[in-house]
Amino acid sequence: MDIPQISKQLEDTGYIVLAKPLVDELLAKLFTRCHDDDSGRFHAAQVGRGAGKQQIGSIRSDVIDWLDTANGTDQIYLACMEELRLGLNESLFLGLFDYECHYAIYGKGDGYAKHSDVLQGKKNRILTTVLYLNEDWQTCDGGELVVFEPTGKSVLTTVDPTFGTMIIFLSESFPHEVLISHAPRRSIAGWFRVSGS
Ligand code: OGA
Ligand code: MN
Repeated sequence: MDIPQISKQLEDTGYIVLAKPLVDELLAKLFTRCHDDDSGRFHAAQVGRGAGKQQIGSIRSDVIDWLDTANGTDQIYLACMEELRLGLNESLFLGLFDYECHYAIYGKGDGYAKHSDVLQGKKNRILTTVLYLNEDWQTCDGGELVVFEPTGKSVLTTVDPTFGTMIIFLSESFPHEVLISHAPRRSIAGWFRVSGS
């Protein structure tokens, strides 16, 4: 990953869309891992935190599975993100402490209503990353990520969830929404965090 380029653009605009920051071999392995194969790995995503956690299909209807530090493929992805974490700390002094991430699968008709990634009362998510794993994604498949400018009033950018694309943005600054997907939509969403609440 081009850490100087990522740092510069995060500093200038607060977000960056990278066409293909990871090698194809790793993307292919991650794609294989991002399948709900009846093993019970994936479960309905929830909204909120702690006792306030709820599954509300009208807000978000994807299924997720947190990466597994015991899995070889997940380890390679986590190592890439660790390199990014250290690089960003060095160049931007962000004090990023760790990284959490999950596979997500949106089925036909699934989306995620406009939201912020900083959970209420908890400010430890600093940077959001989303890596997309969809080969041959067509415009008619929908499922775009719409990123709004900080006031939430106008659209800053729209990202197609095409294979290998990664977006990185300041978690607190940009409300965003996943438009209804008309085909299975696979990704890894993650957050670099600072420690504490
Ligand atoms: C999320 C999210 C965006 C996407 O999981 O919080 O906003 O494009 N995902 O999948
Ligand atoms: Mn989000």
